[in-house]
Amino acid sequence: MGLPARVTIVDVGPRDGLQNEAAPVSTADKVALVHALQDAGLREIEVTSFVSPKWVPQMADNAAVMAAINRRSGVRYSVLTPNLKGLEGALPGRPDEIVVFAAASEAFSRRNINCSIAESIERFEPVVQAARAQGIKVRGAISCAVGCPYQGEVTAQEVERVARLMKEIGVQHCGVADTIGVGTPRRVQLAMEQALRHFPLEEVSGHFHDTYGQALANIYACLELGVHHYDTSVAGLGGCPYAKGATGNVATEDVVFMLDGLGVETGIDLDRLVDAGAAITRVLGRPPVSRVARAILARRASAEAASCAGSAAPVA
Ligand code: HMG
Ligand code: MG
Repeated sequence: MGLPARVTIVDVGPRDGLQNEAAPVSTADKVALVHALQDAGLREIEVTSFVSPKWVPQMADNAAVMAAINRRSGVRYSVLTPNLKGLEGALPGRPDEIVVFAAASEAFSRRNINCSIAESIERFEPVVQAARAQGIKVRGAISCAVGCPYQGEVTAQEVERVARLMKEIGVQHCGVADTIGVGTPRRVQLAMEQALRHFPLEEVSGHFHDTYGQALANIYACLELGVHHYDTSVAGLGGCPYAKGATGNVATEDVVFMLDGLGVETGIDLDRLVDAGAAITRVLGRPPVSRVARAILARRASAEAASCAGSAAPVA
């Protein structure tokens, strides 16, 4: 099979990226990030999560962020909802999509959402029903689909089970997440194939953290399977508070650069995306993790220095 002609990217930076920041990021900066991403051509943005503020304090301004966004038509704004309380909190903000998140590993399920996998699915069922009754799309994320920080190895059977259970309760899209970034291309394909047993190609996505530098190779491996939805995070922001040591999601800039090079359409303007990443990392006080963003910013700085030097040169 050839590579897909077009890929849809969900930028999860505002949620997955910022949730891991220890210092509070202002609501205005979060909203500015969402606006910068839509200006860069992102058509899917994971904005925030309606989780317990005791568990993830950085997302406590979820409703304020959703209320302050200048929505652009054609952009889908999604939020995480772990339970009915989360969905109730999210509804006034009119999310286009909600995300329920289970784990393929029991140990991670307990640490992340304080219940077993089976309990999480039971808890999600009324959330899925209520969301769908309101016409809101439901995405499911399977965390730790390749490895777990507490349990270690995760088998394909464990991934298949969660994908099946999600399908049974009415989840419409299945995201396969390598939360700690230990996956390598063949392992990730195996996990993805489990999701594809229960969901059509249009409704599966890859969510790869880049801890071991394998994320681009893993995306390429999934492109070879025809998978054409990926979660990425601008500037490579993030990590998961319950997966210590895991780095951010693969950087959106790196993925867009690779896809541009492959001739795969994303609709994203790489220069404006680099601007978005530069702006949020200035707020955070560190440079982007993205190699592509660093290279483009360095090229811009040297072009600017050359043009200043040129304009300062004496006119003969
Ligand atoms: P719990 O403590 O078992 O819940 O937490 P509870 O029902 O016993 O409630 C405890 C308190 O939380 C109560 O308040 C509830 O009202 C409140 P209190 O009476 O003590 O004042 N509460 C809530 N408040 C706001 N919004 C809610 C909510 N629910 C309960 N929705 C719970 C269970 C699921 C709530 C908790 O474990 C939690 O919030 N976990 C979220 C952890 C999280 O956000 N992790 C990161 C996202 S997942 C991720 O990053 C992985 C992913 O990106 C994939 C990947 O990266 O690979 C998806
Ligand atoms: Mg993630």
